[in-house]
Amino acid sequence: MAKQFEIYKCEVCGNVIEVLFEGAGELVCCEEPMTLMKEKTVDEIKEKHVPVFEKGLNGNVLVKVGEIPHPMEKEHYIQMIEVFGEDNILERKYLLPEQKPEFLVKLNQGITHAREYCNIHGLWKGENNVI
Ligand SMILES: [Fe+2]
Repeated sequence: MAKQFEIYKCEVCGNVIEVLFEGAGELVCCEEPMTLMKEKTVDEIKEKHVPVFEKGLNGNVLVKVGEIPHPMEKEHYIQMIEVFGEDNILERKYLLPEQKPEFLVKLNQGITHAREYCNIHGLWKGENNVI
């Protein structure tokens, strides 16, 4: 059973979906069960994916991907960043190649963690242990 905010991918056509509200059924696309994208938190490869937090001006929060900026090339880039509070998505930003892999969130709204989705390396999560 899918859980709220889980992200699933179809390995056949490449559809990526996020569960808004959970139900009992199995998620299927192209006649195959969809793959749950697990939130990775430890980067063992050279490119850095785990979202990191910085204090901005006026209480704003800057979420960066990652410690070293992730590439933002047409073939390999961060497609979106989501910022969470207690059990809820506060904001989501979609990104395009050539944009900076970061998200300036207006004011600190009790941010607990952030996730990002890399088109090659999947879903990553970083805790807000700065603010
Ligand atoms: Fe990547």
